[in-house]
Amino acid sequence: MTLLLGLESSCDETAAAVVRDGRVVLSSVVHSQIAEHAPYGGVVPEIAGRSHLRKVLPVVDRALADAGVGLDDLAAIAVTVRPGLIGSLLVGLSAAKGLAFSRGLPLVPVHHIEAHVHAATMELDEAPYPCVALVVSGGHTSLYRVESALEMHLLATTLDDAAGEAFDKVAWLLGLGYPGGPAVSRLALEGDPRAIEFPRYRAKDGGLGFSFSGLKTAVLYHLRGGDPRNPTPPAEAIADRADVAASFEQAVVDALVHETLRAAEQEGLERVLVAGGVACNRRLREEMTARGAARGLRAAFPSPAYCTDNAVMIAGLGHELLRAGRTAGLELDACPR
Ligand code: KG4
Ligand code: ZN
Repeated sequence: MTLLLGLESSCDETAAAVVRDGRVVLSSVVHSQIAEHAPYGGVVPEIAGRSHLRKVLPVVDRALADAGVGLDDLAAIAVTVRPGLIGSLLVGLSAAKGLAFSRGLPLVPVHHIEAHVHAATMELDEAPYPCVALVVSGGHTSLYRVESALEMHLLATTLDDAAGEAFDKVAWLLGLGYPGGPAVSRLALEGDPRAIEFPRYRAKDGGLGFSFSGLKTAVLYHLRGGDPRNPTPPAEAIADRADVAASFEQAVVDALVHETLRAAEQEGLERVLVAGGVACNRRLREEMTARGAARGLRAAFPSPAYCTDNAVMIAGLGHELLRAGRTAGLELDACPR
């Protein structure tokens, strides 16, 4: 039996989890800073770093207590070291180093994006490799070819905004709260996804890729009545808010599904993993599953709690890295990219 403590602090969640043998979740604690960043409509790095500092040890204590284990029962401590906000990463890494040093435990450095992809495999009965993975969150929108838990290659990424960021910005235009994804998606249920024909980006050279800034601008111009010189109306004055939400969501989902299925075809792969906060989106889950199935592809998503930032995915991937001997000492450093 191998027990790992996972620690995650790359953005606006302070999370710790205890996982047995890379699969069995003994505890998962996530402290979200959403309320602290909400007044600013996005994550403020200085606020994030200070909040992690206050919460990291209480969150670790709770994760150990919930799992009914002590530090001496652990085989290693897995911690996110990249990519993310550097001040936030350093808080988690410093805590992990202190705990590891106090018990002579190995540290396992984990790449946040690889952990998101790994999260989509932890609840499956069999390993899905090789496969295509779409990582879609507030900071990332990328496609990978995944050979194993420890080997993935970037196929394509966004030229500008991440899909989650586009959700957050459109939510702001529509007078919805932060984070915008869940709010836009709730309002979209009341609207017609075909009411407004928003643009879908396609790479000119026929290659794979994403871009959401044109879509965001199209939403803004639509709200201004088609004339960019008009002022942006206040949210209460927008008569077709639900149609805008539904048509915008449909445009994002179309782009994500279209490019992911193309990537799978291009790579000759039959399995698709979707991970990251936007993977919570119901329309994306339904359309990826249905349009994939129509082409003989199988799509898998983590449970919603493991789509958004969490430490279960860090401990889970940490277990694979530990087995491969990929540990580190106290000289370990964090990296924003
Ligand atoms: O993975 P995550 O928790 O943090 C990052 O690493 O970015 O993703 C957060 C993002 C936010 O932009 C949020 O608006 C989006 O995921 N999101 C959603 C949904 N739930 C969360 N986007 C669309 N539909 C959802 N249901
Ligand atoms: Zn993330």
